[in-house]
Amino acid sequence: MAIQQVGVVGCGLMGGGIAQVSAAAGFPTVVREVSPNALEKGLGSVRRFLQGGVDKGKLAAAEMERTLANIRGTTELRDLSGCDLVIEAVTENIGLKKEILSALDASCRPAAILASNTSSLSITEMSTFVRHPERVIGLHFFNPVPLMKLVEVVRTVRTDEAVLAETHAWCLAIGKTPVRCGDSTGFVVNRLLVPYMLDAVRVFEQGLASRDDIDSAMRLGCGHPMGPLMLTDYVGLDTAFYISEIMFDEFKEPRFAAPTLLRRMVTAGLHGRKSGRGFYDWSTHPPG
Ligand code: 3HC
Repeated sequence: MAIQQVGVVGCGLMGGGIAQVSAAAGFPTVVREVSPNALEKGLGSVRRFLQGGVDKGKLAAAEMERTLANIRGTTELRDLSGCDLVIEAVTENIGLKKEILSALDASCRPAAILASNTSSLSITEMSTFVRHPERVIGLHFFNPVPLMKLVEVVRTVRTDEAVLAETHAWCLAIGKTPVRCGDSTGFVVNRLLVPYMLDAVRVFEQGLASRDDIDSAMRLGCGHPMGPLMLTDYVGLDTAFYISEIMFDEFKEPRFAAPTLLRRMVTAGLHGRKSGRGFYDWSTHPPG
């Protein structure tokens, strides 16, 4: 079965981005949110991103219209029943994922591929929620989805080779570069990236260098597009903290332990870009 119609559950930052790149590549894509308001907010972000592309001269207006015409929003999970590939991109909560995968399992065709965009939860555990675990796979996208080229394609010990091949081909069709990896918490990128972000917070916490000097050091010394403290703001301090907790729980290694400063900032509601303040003040442009 070649993937033709795609479903996305969740139209937040990641789900909206995934729906956008899928639709832009010509796949009729149905995206589901829990309420008309949440759906409108998510689709509004997709429209704004596409309009930004048109304004920058990166995208033809007709291309934007074609992409939007390929996206259908819904609040009903059963509207995804005709999809060949459904990607869930909801909050990182295993109970919620179980609820959604069970509902998809009941309404989708047995041949449908069920994928998760989780960055830290176990794909293997999710595969136990459905009748065909061999058709469950991880497709981990990166933020901002339309600009980041990578997708981690995560197989479990049960994943069918054909499912791996079909999703790999779909990633190429939407213009992404897939890398394959096994189902280990954090996969490849977060296994390397999370300790790096946590170490940057530790360096800052210990007063080794200022915020701006830490970020300049990694940008100018290593050619990174943004420094690690700005990146932590960008990913979300709450998200970085949450992933670190899951990774620490899995590996029991100090490098995955969240530094006190990160913990305190999360408690204080300083979640980075999404909350307006983290290591940077995001109400100014550029963030200061
Ligand atoms: N439509 C089309 N193209 C657009 C666009 C739009 N709306 N907005 C921007 N672009 C293009 C720009 O024209 C530019 O293209 P060019 O390189 O050909 O000139 C390119 O995208 C970059 O855009 P900007 O110049 O506006 O922005 P920056 O150069 O400041 O880059 C960034 C922004 C891409 C976010 C860059 O800073 C970056 O790569 N940062 C690192 C992001 C990262 O590491 N993400 C991964 C986080 S980890 C994760 O997601 C995993 C999770 O599990 C934690």
